[in-house]
Amino acid sequence: MRIVLGVAGGIAAYKSAHVIRRLRELGHTVTVVPTADALKFVGAPTFEALSGQPVTTDVFDEVDKVNHVRIGHEAELLIVAPATANTIAKIAAGLADDLLTASVLTTTAPIVVAPAMHTEMWHNPATVANIATLRERGVHVLDPAVGRLTGPDSGPGRLPEPEEIVAFALAAAEGGTTETGTAGSGTDRTDSAGSLSGKRVVVSAGGTREALDPVRFLGNRSSGKQGIALARAAFAAGARVELVAAHVDSGLLADLPAGITVTPIESTLDLQAAMATAAEHADIIIMAAAVADFRPARLADAKLKKSGDEGMSIELVQNPDVLAGLVADRRPGQFIVGFAAETGDAAHSAHEYAEAKFRRKGADLLVFNDVSADRAFGHDVTEVVILAAGDGASDVVDAATLAGTKDDVAQKVVAEIARRITPVESTP
Ligand code: CTP
Repeated sequence: MRIVLGVAGGIAAYKSAHVIRRLRELGHTVTVVPTADALKFVGAPTFEALSGQPVTTDVFDEVDKVNHVRIGHEAELLIVAPATANTIAKIAAGLADDLLTASVLTTTAPIVVAPAMHTEMWHNPATVANIATLRERGVHVLDPAVGRLTGPDSGPGRLPEPEEIVAFALAAAEGGTTETGTAGSGTDRTDSAGSLSGKRVVVSAGGTREALDPVRFLGNRSSGKQGIALARAAFAAGARVELVAAHVDSGLLADLPAGITVTPIESTLDLQAAMATAAEHADIIIMAAAVADFRPARLADAKLKKSGDEGMSIELVQNPDVLAGLVADRRPGQFIVGFAAETGDAAHSAHEYAEAKFRRKGADLLVFNDVSADRAFGHDVTEVVILAAGDGASDVVDAATLAGTKDDVAQKVVAEIARRITPVESTP
């Protein structure tokens, strides 16, 4: 990917050297556009050597190349790290008085901003308003870390570590948008971008496996794709994400952004325990795992053997309903999303069964798909209806209906959650 890294003038500019190195290790092309002040902290030769590209800061450098438009146009992702309060204010106001801000104004690529400043500046109403403006426009803002700042002070305002910036930026580029409107157009990078900033999200994914003996289990065909897409979308929207992963298709966990914590589990009882622990701190719980409703009553210590030519029966006991348990124990303000794959029959449609399940489970949203025609498991394109509580006449409404990839569904679900949760102050 062609990435433009804008570097503003703050002490944290030195961390941008590691961001360049990491992006290049991952195979990306990086053009660094420092502000004039950034060059007081880190010299142009450092940026040139690390990026392997020439570095300019002024719109009047190399005028023949029309850099102030070209750099923004060519970018597939534009990151500003660190972004000072001043640069953020300029971007929010649409100023273009240097190459960095001109590039931000001309790009149609996803924009990621990693602010770094003193705590007072971060909490100043002007900065708060500017950050809100950027987020409304779909800019992905990575909240600063809390810690030691340049002087003896400490608090929110520290630039997150390069690994985290890179993971956040690449996730934003991936899950963020296919939108090509200009940054100021107000069209759609906003759906997921930054909208879950500061929220803690736990997502369960994949299919649980219930052991019969040391080598056999009862399982299901869930690929885990939808849950993983949700974890990525929530991460791209600025959330801190824990993925509780039951069995998922091979390779799906390999290239997750480094910032997503993965807790692997096997059985429904494992899932119940992991979710209960994660729920203690979660603001949002998304139960996308395909949970086995039953497990063998007994787990054999040794491999089960055939006896003669007789068949065999396995006694099953019911598993706990993890989602219902989480709803029953929910903390005030905790937002819970369930999933349901339903089939219709002669008595009721799949939609009617889904509505009944929504009422029964008590989640805030239920994302349901009709799997009558075996369309959902493992496929990339899916059709879903998001059910939500209605007000007044109807107690359940279709908050959204869409057909698309599992990434599209994930972004829509994240956007629906973001619309319905109480906004929080943007602190790390
Ligand atoms: N779920 C759960 N624990 C279970 C079963 C399901 O937490 N033992 C969750 C799933 O992760 C999903 C939602 O509940 O978010 C609905 O799953 P589904 O299998 O459709 O629900 P069931 O209650 O098992 O209903 P059914 O009897 O129709 O299978």
